[in-house]
Amino acid sequence: MYTLKKSLGQHFLRDENISRKIVATLRQRPFAQLLEVGPGVSRFAVGDRVWAGTFSGGSAEYVVIQESWAARPPHEWSDVEAGSLPYVALTVWAALVDQAGLTPESARGKKIIIPRGAGGVGSFAIQLMKAWGAEVATIVSTGNVDLVRRLGADTVIDRTQQDFSEVLHDYDVAFNTSFGIEEALLDALKTGADAAYVSIVTPKMQLMDKHGLEKGQAMGKELFQKMVDSQRALGRRYYWSFMQPNGDALAQIAQLAETGAIQPVIDRVFPLEKLAEAHELSDTKQVQGKIVIQI
Ligand SMILES: NC(=O)c1ccc[n+]([C@@H]2O[C@H](COP(=O)([O-])OP(=O)(O)OC[C@H]3O[C@@H](n4cnc5c(N)ncnc54)[C@H](OP(=O)(O)O)[C@@H]3O)[C@@H](O)[C@H]2O)c1
Repeated sequence: MYTLKKSLGQHFLRDENISRKIVATLRQRPFAQLLEVGPGVSRFAVGDRVWAGTFSGGSAEYVVIQESWAARPPHEWSDVEAGSLPYVALTVWAALVDQAGLTPESARGKKIIIPRGAGGVGSFAIQLMKAWGAEVATIVSTGNVDLVRRLGADTVIDRTQQDFSEVLHDYDVAFNTSFGIEEALLDALKTGADAAYVSIVTPKMQLMDKHGLEKGQAMGKELFQKMVDSQRALGRRYYWSFMQPNGDALAQIAQLAETGAIQPVIDRVFPLEKLAEAHELSDTKQVQGKIVIQI
């Protein structure tokens, strides 16, 4: 391990172009204790606890991150708790804040639909939107109704009993976290009122898988533009969104967590040796909140 750390560190730290990077060892997914810092790093020091979203290295022991991706996790949270949040929190932030444009002020009183509320993304999105004063509707199966109510959801649809499209109307924001429901979510939005649809389950990858990189990309672009235009004609905004590393967002989320407004939702913790088992559980799509890999 030490060798890996040294070789990574020396390699990256010698490179002036990325001198603001930090070498970190991941104790859990994107939670880390800093082992080395590049010469341009000013906000963190060796030994600091940090959390960060990363594009890769989720199950690696050591990873190099940009200083701007990192922030200090909530003081009271354990390493496992801190490790459970950055990836899903930054997925939500990129969608609802960076794309849909919600802020603590503008979210107040807005009606938002968050499907898959018991999943990692949904369980954080519900808590963030409730902390910012929005009115949240979510969709789950029977066994998760109590969980999402505890997280603060105002309207809970049990998908095994009810079709949400019959119940949810005139919403301001639809955050799509589940394939196959785009049309129904769009129908639940207000028209002519700047409502926003933002999806993290876009057809981009499927199109590339099916038609190859170039053609799939072109088809995705065309489809996206068609949807943007047709929704604009109805007075709505339409977005596709992807997780983005963002240390400033994590600093704000840590502050909310310190107040108790955000709680970690963890299904199970696996040691690295049981990574395959963790993936098998993830593939069941029946996970409540997050699975954490502890290294
Ligand atoms: N674009 C990005 O950057 C990005 C980043 C992260 C994740 N994602 C995507 O976002 C989606 C959500 O991810 P996640 O990690 O939060 O959760 P997940 O593991 O996909 O969702 C778990 C929850 O989904 C619900 N579920 C299972 N089967 C369902 C079905 N057939 N219909 C509706 N709900 C079902 C279950 O709750 P109930 O039984 O209560 O319904 C379960 O608790 C995934 O598709 C993931 O790939 C995208």
